[in-house]
Amino acid sequence: MGTIGFIGAGNMGEALIRGILKANLAAPHQIIIADVNQKRRAQIGERYGVAVSESNSQVAACSEVTILAVKPQIIHSVVKEIGEVAAAGGNKLLISIAAGVRLSSLRACLSEGVRIIRVMPNTPALVLEGMSAICSDGADQEGLATAEKIFSAVGKVVIVEEGLIDAVTGLSGSGPAYVALMIEALADGGVLMGLPRKISQELALQTVLGTARLLMEANYHPAALKDMVSSPAGTTIQGIYALEKAGFRASLMEAVRSAAVRSKELGQS
Ligand SMILES: NC(=O)c1ccc[n+]([C@@H]2O[C@H](COP(=O)([O-])OP(=O)(O)OC[C@H]3O[C@@H](n4cnc5c(N)ncnc54)[C@H](OP(=O)(O)O)[C@@H]3O)[C@@H](O)[C@H]2O)c1
Repeated sequence: MGTIGFIGAGNMGEALIRGILKANLAAPHQIIIADVNQKRRAQIGERYGVAVSESNSQVAACSEVTILAVKPQIIHSVVKEIGEVAAAGGNKLLISIAAGVRLSSLRACLSEGVRIIRVMPNTPALVLEGMSAICSDGADQEGLATAEKIFSAVGKVVIVEEGLIDAVTGLSGSGPAYVALMIEALADGGVLMGLPRKISQELALQTVLGTARLLMEANYHPAALKDMVSSPAGTTIQGIYALEKAGFRASLMEAVRSAAVRSKELGQS
């Protein structure tokens, strides 16, 4: 892979840089970043040994792939700023990770023929356990493959139609917050029943991590695992009964639905 540029080197930009280097997808000298925040630029440059520029256009000019990792409110102005360079040829690819920003609205700021892909990553990318969904608005198979390669460095990747990105946002994009809430609540339950906070937190965290790994590695259906651990008149079925009475499953479904609807609203504003 040629040079990979980052415009915006905040949380997600840094996670991607770390993953790309760890996966040996690019060497530090094949990565260049620009960020308005001078301190942040210097920090990332020093931490990872990547090239640093003050100019967004310069990053786009010398990169084969430019990842736009700025906040959604800023991305249109950045795309306009680098549009000329992106159109100048060399088969350059732009990748937007801005939540809620549709490809059509970015296209409106670009000349015809500029290649652009949209990706919805999530925060566990910071520990290389991210979940990203990627889409294009055309048939740019090569662009999708490039994005898949890059985002696989920080976790798993699926390819979806852009119309499904709001649903992805509601599930894996916002999901880390739901899971964090659940872990906190499980730990609170342990404390309620007399466990020291530190131990309770460890039990909650490892239970969630271990269950996810078991489901993935053994390829169990979640319902099969639930049945396996629920003995007749036992403790687990009692806990499940309490969850069902409280509408646990419907609450999670509603969380995904509400967040997806909100993502769609934001994309229209
Ligand atoms: N973090 C996540 O979990 C996550 C998940 C999915 C999608 N995303 C998307 O990823 C994008 C980046 O999110 P983030 O959490 O990494 O944000 P962030 O930490 O705020 O990073 C953005 C960086 O870009 C800099 N910047 C602002 N304006 C710029 C400009 N005109 N040119 C170059 N750099 C500029 C910011 O500097 P200042 O701080 O000085 O403004 C900041 O250092 C967002 O669009 C977000 O929707 C993030």
